[in-house]
Amino acid sequence: VRELTAAGSPVLVEPGAHARLGALLAGRVRAHRAAIITDSNVGPLYAGAVAAALPDLAPVIVTVPAGEQHKTRETWADVSDQLLRHGIGRDGVVIALGGGVVGDLAGFVAATYLRGIPVVQVPTSLVAMIDAAIGGKTGVDVPAGKNLIGAFHPAALVLVDADFLQSLPPREIRCGIAEALKHGAVADATYFESVAADARHLTTTAGAGSAKLHALVAESVAIKAAVVNDDPRESGRRKILNFGHTLGHAIEAASGYSLRHGEAVAIGMVCEALVGERIGATATGTASTLARALADAGLPTDATFDAADLVARTHTDKKKLAGKVEYALPAGIGRFERWTTAVDDPVVVEILASR
Ligand SMILES: NC(=O)c1ccc[n+]([C@@H]2O[C@H](COP(=O)([O-])OP(=O)(O)OC[C@H]3O[C@@H](n4cnc5c(N)ncnc54)[C@H](O)[C@@H]3O)[C@@H](O)[C@H]2O)c1
Ligand SMILES: [Zn+2]
Repeated sequence: VRELTAAGSPVLVEPGAHARLGALLAGRVRAHRAAIITDSNVGPLYAGAVAAALPDLAPVIVTVPAGEQHKTRETWADVSDQLLRHGIGRDGVVIALGGGVVGDLAGFVAATYLRGIPVVQVPTSLVAMIDAAIGGKTGVDVPAGKNLIGAFHPAALVLVDADFLQSLPPREIRCGIAEALKHGAVADATYFESVAADARHLTTTAGAGSAKLHALVAESVAIKAAVVNDDPRESGRRKILNFGHTLGHAIEAASGYSLRHGEAVAIGMVCEALVGERIGATATGTASTLARALADAGLPTDATFDAADLVARTHTDKKKLAGKVEYALPAGIGRFERWTTAVDDPVVVEILASR
């Protein structure tokens, strides 16, 4: 088992570990009941096995419909009501079993349920394993934008079991590769090169169970944990993880969520790197290096959108200072000189319009 800490949460990385969840919880979480919150894709595959691993906690299983469009206040209310109906008390623990949607939603339910009960994150998608489940951010989407209502609620335990990836569809693996390339782009050029070199193989079915994918999970978890530990409340260095996400969130929402989060972030990283190059914050050629690696992984690097609409959407994102939108722009692959840079809207419109 690899054990590390991220924002105060123990993170265990071990393929196959979900079968031992009960034993791993003992001593870390004091609870007498468990509510496994999962979605309609993951539940049928794994909720039974996870429930069986928690024989002492009389687990109930609450299933939400899969998909970003259900990461809402309405689902939060419905799940909370179900926990009340099941009589889950302050001695309960929420087990978030699923991708980032379930992790964010179930984490937010746990943060507010009876003023807060512990959550254990058991991520099953690549995005959730290397990103969403780590760092304590929880929340839901609202009509005004993504993740605008939420709370910091660090998990009592994060269990990263890469065996779940064997059933993850290739499109979702690719989305995770986008976040792994982001980890390299913001913090580690060598890691970026290695993910880029393996991108093609990792996104095939053969890659899904491979040692290389397991190694990628461990490495990305370590990078995210290190960045988050430096700055748990995102007042400085943690902001670098938002690279690609200011435009990415806007693109994701503008697509009506037909683009997956990782796909939108892929396009967002290329566009934001171009913005950085245009204002002299980012080394020339960074955007094309990113675009090549993302394309190798089968990810989109471009899309046709209304530039003014996207820029308007960036204003409802959370990263704003004195009216200007703040971007996390790397100085080059793996390098940051400043955590954020305020960029004038017309510059962004110009870059987007020229795509
Ligand atoms: N809290 C954070 O810090 C943070 C960070 C990054 C992303 N996020 C959020 O995470 C979400 C994206 O996460 P995601 O990409 O995991 O999306 P997701 O939860 O929608 O999962 C993707 C799809 O894969 C399915 N799935 C998940 N695991 C599976 C498995 N093992 N086998 C088969 N199918 C499986 C899901 O049912 C879903 O259809 C977004 O809402 C994003 O905002 C949060
Ligand atoms: Zn992301």
